[in-house]
Amino acid sequence: MPADRRPEYFKGSQLRVGVIGCGYVGLPLGLRFAEAGHRVTGFDTDPVKVEKLNRGQTYIQHIPQSKIQQFVQSKHFGATTDFSKLAEMDAILICVPTPLDQRREPDLSYVEQTAQSIRPHLQRGQLIVLESTTYPGTTEELLLPILEQTGMKCPIAHGPENEQIGTDFFLAFSPEREDPGNKQFGLAQIPKVVGGVNPPSGRAAVSLYAQVVARVVPVSSTRAAEMTKLLENIFRCVNIAMVNELKMLSLRMGIDIWEVIDAAATKPFGFMPFYPGPGLGGHCIPVDPFYLSWKAREYDFSTRFIELAGEVNTAMPYHVVDAIAAALNNHKKSLKGARILILGVAYKKDVDDLRESPTLKIMQLLQQRGAQLDYNDPYFPQLHKMRHYNYEHMKSVPLSPQVIGGYDAVIVATDHSAYDYSAIVDAAKLVVDTRNATRRVMRHRDKIVLC
Ligand SMILES: NC(=O)c1ccc[n+]([C@@H]2O[C@H](COP(=O)([O-])OP(=O)(O)OC[C@H]3O[C@@H](n4cnc5c(N)ncnc54)[C@H](O)[C@@H]3O)[C@@H](O)[C@H]2O)c1
Repeated sequence: MPADRRPEYFKGSQLRVGVIGCGYVGLPLGLRFAEAGHRVTGFDTDPVKVEKLNRGQTYIQHIPQSKIQQFVQSKHFGATTDFSKLAEMDAILICVPTPLDQRREPDLSYVEQTAQSIRPHLQRGQLIVLESTTYPGTTEELLLPILEQTGMKCPIAHGPENEQIGTDFFLAFSPEREDPGNKQFGLAQIPKVVGGVNPPSGRAAVSLYAQVVARVVPVSSTRAAEMTKLLENIFRCVNIAMVNELKMLSLRMGIDIWEVIDAAATKPFGFMPFYPGPGLGGHCIPVDPFYLSWKAREYDFSTRFIELAGEVNTAMPYHVVDAIAAALNNHKKSLKGARILILGVAYKKDVDDLRESPTLKIMQLLQQRGAQLDYNDPYFPQLHKMRHYNYEHMKSVPLSPQVIGGYDAVIVATDHSAYDYSAIVDAAKLVVDTRNATRRVMRHRDKIVLC
């Protein structure tokens, strides 16, 4: 291993790239590097995932098994739980979870654990990049001090006067911006923002990523890169909250908000459509903004847009349950004792990811109010115990006109493309649609309640 790696070294071919955390972010990233001809090792604490990967199996629906098999066979990709192998890597990319804890504060324990597991194996000239979403300052304040306990230094320095500053290893932040399931923009097409702890670290990371993405966008610091990712997610969170609020007003005013959004979206500048729904879901948008709110307190600053958006979005599942109760009431039925079928537990259409899905909250609220629940989701044949919910005995019911017609109400919680909405409306007594998935259904519109 060359101890005198310079930033330009990472322009080279056949680098040894370690990816820590082989989940939704780490696995596709690792495979992309393998595709570019590098030798990739996935490090994960979960032995089941590691075993599956080494057998060429996938556990993420949109990542094809054939791709994993191809790179395992060609020895461009392998996985391990043995972190001592980190010492053999040229570059180490950290893709571990950054959730919120019980008090909705940043839980950086995974990042910290990862830094601790790199420390004994850190080599001079290695490039370490944090990809996990987090508040500005994490790379410099949490990761760097742990890595510097080795005695090796990576000085925090910015600006042209520090272009050639000496550094024992390279450290950078580059946020993952993937949109799982998005067929138009995959990893290789999404520009990669990169900020280094010092200019050589930034250049090293730019050199590495330029090999796997169409465009790299260097920024002046790790903090700027960390903040970039948060800006993107807060932008979405705030706009979704705004459109959710406008939806509730429009419903009261008898205006079709979806028609309004489509009309507004014809403006060729200054408008970007966001769509209302039953609440926020996914690993990012409901979580990441609160990383910034937490950090802002250190600066006596209150992030009011984030708090307000959080308030509106958190209220959406309650709004949906009230709308279901009102719709049943119109059918002379009470929510208590009603038989309800939920369509879609994934947090958004066509993905096998239910993290923070608002459907889970809607189900909990419906059960608390005495409804008898079943669900269908082609991506989840059964549910399991989660951090906040326990639906481990629930299995997806197969859909047929008879089954659908047996429920007092069918709730479209997630608008999977696989559903035949016309057939669902034909068979159902009542459909409560949280996504306007039934917009093209012509028959029996009187059975549909949008909410
Ligand atoms: N999922 C997305 O769409 C997305 C998009 C952009 C950014 N992100 C961010 O990327 C990061 C990772 O998210 P994800 O969705 O890939 O999470 P994930 O839960 O799918 O994957 C994380 C992986 O890390 C492993 N892991 C946990 N602790 C570990 C440790 N100490 N050492 C090694 N492996 C460990 C887990 O077993 C798991 O396989 C998060 O910060 C997230 O906010 C996610």
